[in-house]
Amino acid sequence: MNRTHSCGALRLDHIGQTVSLAGWVASTRDHGGLIFVDLRDREGLTQVVFDPSLGSDTHTEAKSLRGEYVVAVTGEVTPRPPASVNSALPTGDIEVRATDLLILNPAETPPLEVGDTSRVDESLRLKYRYLDLRSPRMLRNLRLRHHMAQAAREFLDRDGFIEVETPLLMRSTPEGARDYVVPARTRPGAFYALPQSPQLLKQLLMVSGLDRYYQLARCLRDEDLRADRQPEFTQIDIEMSFVQQHDILDLSENLTQHIFRTADIDIPTPFDILTYREAMDAYGTDKPDTRFDLKLAKLNEVFAHTQFRAFAHVLAGGGTVRGLRVPGGASLSRRRLDELESDARQSGAKGLAWFQVTPDDIKSPIAKFLSPEEVSALRRATQAEPGDLLLLVADSFETACQVLGRLRLGLGRELDLIDSSQWCGVRVTDFPLFAYNADEDRVEPMHHPFSAPHPDDLELLATDPLRVRGQVYDLVVNGVELASGSIRVHRREVQEKVLSVIEMLPEEAAKRFGFLLEALQYGAPPHGGIAFGFDRMVAMACGEDSIRDVIAFPKTAAAVDPLTGAPAHVPQHVLNELHIAVKLPPRRDEEQSRAD
Ligand code: AMO
Ligand code: AMP
Repeated sequence: MNRTHSCGALRLDHIGQTVSLAGWVASTRDHGGLIFVDLRDREGLTQVVFDPSLGSDTHTEAKSLRGEYVVAVTGEVTPRPPASVNSALPTGDIEVRATDLLILNPAETPPLEVGDTSRVDESLRLKYRYLDLRSPRMLRNLRLRHHMAQAAREFLDRDGFIEVETPLLMRSTPEGARDYVVPARTRPGAFYALPQSPQLLKQLLMVSGLDRYYQLARCLRDEDLRADRQPEFTQIDIEMSFVQQHDILDLSENLTQHIFRTADIDIPTPFDILTYREAMDAYGTDKPDTRFDLKLAKLNEVFAHTQFRAFAHVLAGGGTVRGLRVPGGASLSRRRLDELESDARQSGAKGLAWFQVTPDDIKSPIAKFLSPEEVSALRRATQAEPGDLLLLVADSFETACQVLGRLRLGLGRELDLIDSSQWCGVRVTDFPLFAYNADEDRVEPMHHPFSAPHPDDLELLATDPLRVRGQVYDLVVNGVELASGSIRVHRREVQEKVLSVIEMLPEEAAKRFGFLLEALQYGAPPHGGIAFGFDRMVAMACGEDSIRDVIAFPKTAAAVDPLTGAPAHVPQHVLNELHIAVKLPPRRDEEQSRAD
């Protein structure tokens, strides 16, 4: 029996034709005489009717069909009786009256309901991923992912980019996460690192004169996982020579727009442009969701002479008072306000002052500490309207902005202030080159150590590195960081200065990426690039909250694959061959001996 059509293909035009379909039994309904079977493949569903008058053997065999049996049927395409037309189904006008049935493979009762798995526990879905992927939603996601990848390749190819594969077995690349390592059998005690990104190799390709490189690159990072992070993920990785930041960002915006069009989403260009400082200042985050235009207000002047001790104290210490206007927020309950305050404290703020704005007054636990002039200046500075809620934090610039930025986003969602039909892109530029890591009391690269300082800030490298701006940028769409990149250092002496700021000794630098420093001496062109988080792009286009839903075989939050059972122990002889002795932490030892 040769398949002639897919299960999504047949229409009224096919009436009278004899066709053969193959697929999975989605459902069966035995109406005494007639048996109806919905046959499913990746293209859709077709109703097949088994009528005893068309062959009693076939009809008898159809009685044995169960969900997920794999079958082939042959029969004539006929119009459905008017009462059974299903306009929700593309094939809903027709049915196939089967004359032959071939059971290609029976199936056990599946451990989860195939089709709509939105209510099925995710670990069960991942354990039986091949069943989960039979659902229209997951098939649509995988298909859209494919089309988006095709669109990226087509766009970049047209623009003169060459796709180059770079190795998975490498030396460590410093992207800030932990490396996955692979023991090297041929050099006992030595390990490869799986690439956190192809960063150094794409730079070497620029030194090679490749000029325009791209790759749909697998990246591996051993980091704490969230909905938007996987240990293995895919980047659209790009590097270009003889360009400036705006060339890379122009191209990246156009690429973003082109890729999203495959999902019928039109992201308007040009994107808004904000510096890092402007983004933090106005939105309290370096990935602002600009679909709702609420900005944080700077209120230092309003409270310059305040009697309210908490604010006066912060301002005297060089801190800031910032405010957020929440339209319609005055209706939030007292309990909800208390929750917001304790959330704010938990995220590190010294407090959260709230004000309910009424037509001619303002209600707040701290109102009694404020003068009438301060209250009216506050109303003016925040453009408060009756019915609004004002939230204020007095703290360091970072804490005040970040805490209010988080509240802005949370309340934006809670109070339905975000227009989800909109798509808003922003390029965020001028990130600081370095950040201070208070836990470890050291200066770290904000992006990675190969990003170039802003030419105007070169002097500051030696004197005040935390004030050096980098030629570092992100592309943000609807509050999601889609891509990140920089112009790179292409001269050895500048690279060495940057490494000395992060206190990497020349010997250590030489050991870890001496090959790059050396390459910079053999004619490295000015170059820069960017990398898109492809999984995040696909998740956004599919309307999925988690990138796990756009990856065929993802890992759980504990970095485990419930389907194959990875990671798993390996037999002792494999460890012996690698000269590896496993020393488990004490608790694990006990568990292990119990398991044995
Ligand atoms: P970066 O580390 O910012 O830059 O990564 C670029 C983009 O990749 C996505 N991303 C992730 N997606 C899923 N899971 C993860 N664990 C994960 N981590 C990052 C994000 C991010 O914006 N080599 C540099 C790029 C460059 O400078 O050209 C790099 O990898 O969307
Ligand atoms: P307290 O004096 O700590 O009881 O605070 C009185 C009110 O002022 C509470 O609602 C606090 O959350 C608020 N508050 C105190 N310190 C700050 C601050 N630094 N920023 C914003 N609000 C504050």
